[in-house]
Amino acid sequence: MSTVAPKKAKAKSAPGARTAGPATPSTAALTIALPRGRILDEALPLFKRAGIDLGAAEKARAGRKLVIPIPEHDMTVLIVRDADVPAYVEHGAADLGIAGRDVLEEQDRDLYEPLDLGIGRCRLVVAEPEDRPVDEMARVHLRYATKFPEMTRRHLQARGVVAEIIKLYGSIEIAPLVGLADRIVDLVSSGETLRQHRLREVETILEVSARVCVGRAAAKLRSDRIDELVARLRAVC
Ligand code: PRP
Repeated sequence: MSTVAPKKAKAKSAPGARTAGPATPSTAALTIALPRGRILDEALPLFKRAGIDLGAAEKARAGRKLVIPIPEHDMTVLIVRDADVPAYVEHGAADLGIAGRDVLEEQDRDLYEPLDLGIGRCRLVVAEPEDRPVDEMARVHLRYATKFPEMTRRHLQARGVVAEIIKLYGSIEIAPLVGLADRIVDLVSSGETLRQHRLREVETILEVSARVCVGRAAAKLRSDRIDELVARLRAVC
């Protein structure tokens, strides 16, 4: 899949700096933060095609184990919540991770994104009730419910729309049905959840797929291992 240019360094973190946790000696196992759920399900076959069998991670996950050594590849897999992957990677607790572009854009952390894996594809969209379309110019108090308040804020700001953003943690599609919001900003994959709740897409904000993300310290200290892994994954995705 496509190569993603590293983000420009931000002033808040000097190259190689670690903000928390012990320094990872370059001889330690390569630590990868993987998000449970659909991305993990799609990432495991990808790693296998790249010659890295993380089947042990699948088995251990079924047994509720969240830190999984893969000694045959000198790796350790951390199974974490998708929204937590960037924090593990930015702070150096994991050398690299896999996270959806939705999560990466929302958090806008100091990470390199060397490879888009093309898995976990979906879209971040604005949606509204089919029978209650919103008139953005009507100057009424609009409310948007979302798990992605930052991206929603940026989107509305770019359009010059003033609205209240209500942060929710899931089941966003309910919000317009019960009068909590006029519109939602949420992920759409098959579109079935929108259909079930009689919502229609207004516009797409972001095309989403999962990316490899790398912390600045690891990019410097572990570049050989990371470059090799990224090259192997690039060859199969
Ligand atoms: C996601 C997303 C939508 C749904 C879209 O929710 O937030 O609700 O999937 O999928 P679809 O277009 O294939 O119907 P998720 O299952 O992650 O649960 P959540 O509501 O708790 O966020």
